[in-house]
Amino acid sequence: MKNHSGILPSDITPKEVFEKRRQLIKLAASGAFGLANAAIFSRAAFAQNTQLTAKPNPKYFLTDKLTSYKDVTNYNNFYEFGTDKSDPAKYAHTLKTKPWTVSVEGLVNKPKTWDLDSLLKLAPMEERVYRFRCVEGWSMVIPWVGYSLSHLIKASEPQGSAKYIEFISLADPKQMPGVNNRVLNWPYTEGLRLDEAMNDLSLLTFGLYGEVLPNQNGAPIRLVVPWKYGFKSAKSIVKIRFTDKEPATSWKVSAPYEYGFYSNVNPLVNHPRWSQATERRIGSEGGIFAPKIKTLPFNGYADQVAHLYKDMDLRKFY
Ligand code: MTE
Repeated sequence: MKNHSGILPSDITPKEVFEKRRQLIKLAASGAFGLANAAIFSRAAFAQNTQLTAKPNPKYFLTDKLTSYKDVTNYNNFYEFGTDKSDPAKYAHTLKTKPWTVSVEGLVNKPKTWDLDSLLKLAPMEERVYRFRCVEGWSMVIPWVGYSLSHLIKASEPQGSAKYIEFISLADPKQMPGVNNRVLNWPYTEGLRLDEAMNDLSLLTFGLYGEVLPNQNGAPIRLVVPWKYGFKSAKSIVKIRFTDKEPATSWKVSAPYEYGFYSNVNPLVNHPRWSQATERRIGSEGGIFAPKIKTLPFNGYADQVAHLYKDMDLRKFY
């Protein structure tokens, strides 16, 4: 992975030394990380008895400082509960997450309505630390809990004609007061191309910081797609539909000149109203006056995903 200067560590270190060092870092990362976070996790999880056991995946470890649990769960976008960052933490307690089902439908051989318990058991839970970059210019570093979305895709057996997947969030005005406000086209709808969805990074997410997702973060099941702007990561998903056409996603429908289907994090393509070249890490020292950091192509995940777009003009397909 490239660092902020754009220089690969392998450019300046002999390859064997680099590989050896990387293995050591990986080992240290898994151990140290598990211990450091166990303490944080137990504090939060014991209070609510909502622990979610997961094994840290050393492949997705970052040395960046984690965004605090408080910031991750109090500075949110979840328009079904209001448009202020503090609204979801205030109002999402009305969301009923049990019982919960997710129906998988469309161009698959195995359509199925999954209850949450069977989804929780479908594959081993992993803990993955991802950078998370919102289109608005702020970012966080979050230890998510979940497993690769590819497990559910394989279990559903997509047909040859399936090219895209649509993710649909719950839109119940009785539980979600913001749905009465026509700021967006409800239900919140997102989508990925099938090969993007199959990429190991695409995470079907059930928790964060070792506990089940708080309602404001998209309980009980959401998507996290770390190389794309945060709005691709749909929350409180109730339907997953395999299609042969590009899904009409909520943000693209409401403002097509501002939000495209792909929405890959790209410091070279500005939003029409602001630059995307830098970002502000929430919780960093200095608050809103903290120096901005450079945004990385594909949010730093270019090694894993750039090949998916090799023949595409990413200025056109933003
Ligand atoms: N999913 C639904 N259903 N509704 C939303 O308003 N907001 C998106 C995304 N998923 C949103 C959603 C946006 S803009 C962002 S930045 C992330 O959720 C925020 O996730 P977080 O609050 O867990 O940080």
